[in-house]
Amino acid sequence: MTLAPVLQKIDATLPEAIDRLIDLLRIPSISTDAAYRPDCARAADWLVADLAALGFDASSRPTPGHPMVVAHGGSGFGTHLLFYGHYDVQPVDPLSLWTRDPFDPAIEETAKGRILRGRGASDDKGQLMTFIEACRAWKAVHGTLPGKLTIFLEGEEESGSPSLIPFLKANAEELHADVALICDTGLFESRAPAITTMLRGLLGEELTIHAATRDLHSGMYGGLAQNPIHILSKILAGLHDAEGRVQVPGFYDGVTELSDELRSQWQNLAFDHARFLGDVGLSVPAGEQDRTPLEKLWSRPTAEVNGIWGGYTGDGFKTVLPGEAHAKVSFRLVGKQDPFQLRENFRAWVEAQLPADCTVEWKGHGNSPASVMSIDHPAFAACRTALTEEWGIPAAYVGAGGSIPVAGYFKTYLGMDAILMGFAKDDDQIHSPNEKYDLDSFHKGIRCWARVLAKLA
Ligand code: BES
Ligand code: ZN
Repeated sequence: MTLAPVLQKIDATLPEAIDRLIDLLRIPSISTDAAYRPDCARAADWLVADLAALGFDASSRPTPGHPMVVAHGGSGFGTHLLFYGHYDVQPVDPLSLWTRDPFDPAIEETAKGRILRGRGASDDKGQLMTFIEACRAWKAVHGTLPGKLTIFLEGEEESGSPSLIPFLKANAEELHADVALICDTGLFESRAPAITTMLRGLLGEELTIHAATRDLHSGMYGGLAQNPIHILSKILAGLHDAEGRVQVPGFYDGVTELSDELRSQWQNLAFDHARFLGDVGLSVPAGEQDRTPLEKLWSRPTAEVNGIWGGYTGDGFKTVLPGEAHAKVSFRLVGKQDPFQLRENFRAWVEAQLPADCTVEWKGHGNSPASVMSIDHPAFAACRTALTEEWGIPAAYVGAGGSIPVAGYFKTYLGMDAILMGFAKDDDQIHSPNEKYDLDSFHKGIRCWARVLAKLA
């Protein structure tokens, strides 16, 4: 079946595809916040209805967390493809920094082209809809889906995927396909199409340090009573030494050095780190001083404080000596670093530094190991060609600093290789206020998937 009329259909119906995406973006499916639980279910239902309308056998599957969407469609003797995306989004705070309601998206004309602004536009609703729109155009032109397809959409990716492993294990047979396609990554330097072959893992830890049994008057008790904010900040300040090395014992166990082949491959990418930093108002590379910028982003582990609070942070001033202090800390993992071992080591390291009268309370968040994709499956070459054809620029094999837990799990639990390709740009402001997706990414993304489907399905 031919591709050309499908590409024409995609071009002609882009406005309707954008309207559908706007509809989906209106649903505030923030997975980490229990207040949005019904909205997550609503987003899953929206997708089930849309996929059913395309002829998929689609359902929303309950989990202890948010539902998974699973859809099967098409038939044929080509490659059975499983497509993965996530319909959940990150919280929107600080809301005051948004230039519009994050869940009332609209097209904006900018100097760099037309964009769609709203939470989830890029990560990952806009990206997941590129695949669904490619299927829709195919169906409209040829009357059927292009081949045997499974679509698997998660609603907990942004909150550590707690239900994912049990779901994959319980539905391994149903979810198995020849190869998985994951659309949750970006272009290289916002311009070159790319297949991501390495992702960092993640460990999230939340801690509360308790001291006095209640908040105290800082004049009446200050000087005699222990201040948990001081204890916490001192411990966190000791996470790195002056050279940027993480100080938790055993932290570098399992970290592997870059192969010569990858090192020269990455050198050839000629990453412009000055521009990358300059775009966000920075100029001096932080972190380990003996590592290249791409190494720091893609193949070195990190420890970052993501949030810290305690005492009085409201308007005005209050002379309080707090009874407790809190922080959220995340580690990006590489190589064979073991998130469970790190959790143990980090907790022991903190506990060993607590003075008398202080205790710590822990809450574990997501954990997933780093993943490296094998690129031997023939579908990789087909995807690379599709990307190159659509962008008119050779597609690169790249790493990514972010984490997508499912990427490694497809191999571990389903024995299936995964191909990561997405169309986000560095300035999409994912996880930040004013998230956007370029309509050019959306349009080319849909066309690119149509090319992939023509080659594989
Ligand atoms: N799409 C991102 C991952 C990503 C970001 C890949 C940038 C490539 C470039 C994904 O949705 C994400 O943000 N994941 C979280 C996972 C975490 C909450 C378990 C992340 O990386 O922080
Ligand atoms: Zn994402």
